[in-house]
Amino acid sequence: MLAAVGSAVGLGNVWRFPYFAATYGGGTFLVTYLVVIAVFGLMMMIAEITIGRATGLGPLGAFRTLHRRFAFLGVIAALTPMVIFPFYSVIGGWVTRYAWTFLTGGAADAAQAGHFGAFTSQTWQPILWLGVFVAVNAALLLVGVRKGIERVNVIAMPAFIVMVLALVVYGLTLDGALAGLDYFLRPDFSQLSLNTVVAATRQTFFSLSLSAGVMLTYGSYLRKDASIERSAMQAAALDTTVSLLAGLLVIPAVVAFMGYEGLGQGAGLLFITLPQVFASMPGGAFVGAVFFALMFVAAVTSGISLMEVPVATVMEKTRLKRRGAVLVVAAGTVLLALPTTLGFGVWSEFTIGGMNVLGQMSFLTDVIMMPLVGLGTAILVGWVLGPKVIAAVVRQNGHRFRTERLFSVTMRWIAPVVLVLVLTTSLLMALGVIPPL
Ligand code: TRP
Repeated sequence: MLAAVGSAVGLGNVWRFPYFAATYGGGTFLVTYLVVIAVFGLMMMIAEITIGRATGLGPLGAFRTLHRRFAFLGVIAALTPMVIFPFYSVIGGWVTRYAWTFLTGGAADAAQAGHFGAFTSQTWQPILWLGVFVAVNAALLLVGVRKGIERVNVIAMPAFIVMVLALVVYGLTLDGALAGLDYFLRPDFSQLSLNTVVAATRQTFFSLSLSAGVMLTYGSYLRKDASIERSAMQAAALDTTVSLLAGLLVIPAVVAFMGYEGLGQGAGLLFITLPQVFASMPGGAFVGAVFFALMFVAAVTSGISLMEVPVATVMEKTRLKRRGAVLVVAAGTVLLALPTTLGFGVWSEFTIGGMNVLGQMSFLTDVIMMPLVGLGTAILVGWVLGPKVIAAVVRQNGHRFRTERLFSVTMRWIAPVVLVLVLTTSLLMALGVIPPL
């Protein structure tokens, strides 16, 4: 459970959720997202954890064991973190850099207009910081302190939540913040479109660490006396709470400082806005330093869950021991991250359908790879194995499965329909038939 929460709660919640909500319609996105999480995300998490527990294997072995024809799902699932971790490290690098800047007295600088763009568009500085982020993840995996990190998280995560909560309260007192609150919370269903559903679905995959072998692997570790349903619900609820709080913090502040136009700033939203919030409060330099340090911890606990998958795969497929595998994956990650970071600077002209390299990478993972694995998992569970087989595993050791009905319907109908829609949309976008997100 702790490992699952550590993996789920990360940059996806703090950095990405607020900018997705800002970009895709505020309250309309929020309500859609909550529905997708409850109806689809939670059920998919239960399915994955159960597959992990039933087979006791990671993604490659698990899917191969369950059905020969579905073995390719394990391959895509195992490849996904190799694509995510590099771009995740670029953002992790930004967090590391902001934590450093605040710790070393640069709070006022960071609040200047143009600071974020000036930093991210450089060539070497962001590479250095992403290297630091990867090195920290690699070091932690090498020393094998995953358990230790989970324990650090038992303190860091609640501390972060309490801090964000206090900041939300402060942020709402800013002039103009209530208009932002209204935008974030009030749905306008005339604005609901397929785009909203696609955005909510991809955010669900990403935020809950689904369809990338992570939850499945944790399912194989989960103690037999722990309820799968309850563990999944707790992880999903905590993950969603952190996303909501981050939205409540960032979006009202954006509107307060920059008006509605500020909402369109994309990936830089948090990094541009929060330094201004900190600059406006007494002791803000210190508060900001603590905030970015705790955000760094959250990013690292997710980062190691991502990095672990390729490390395990390399160890399985080559004769490298742990140390060699970690070094190879770290070096590979930095190399693969270069296009993404340069996409904010010298390669910013290189866009596909308006998406820079970061947009392209996350499109590849959370609009194509993860929905594919999710679709395959739903078909495997819903139609090939049958939901009853999975339900029997969930109920082992006398546990209850209260959402079994929903689980069945989601695996057989809802997930396939929604994911086929998502994948078709992405295909049409890739072919240029409809404009990209
Ligand atoms: N869920 C994490 C976050 O929100 C990121 C993450 C960790 C992830 N492991 C994953 C995303 C596996 C997809 C798949 O920051």
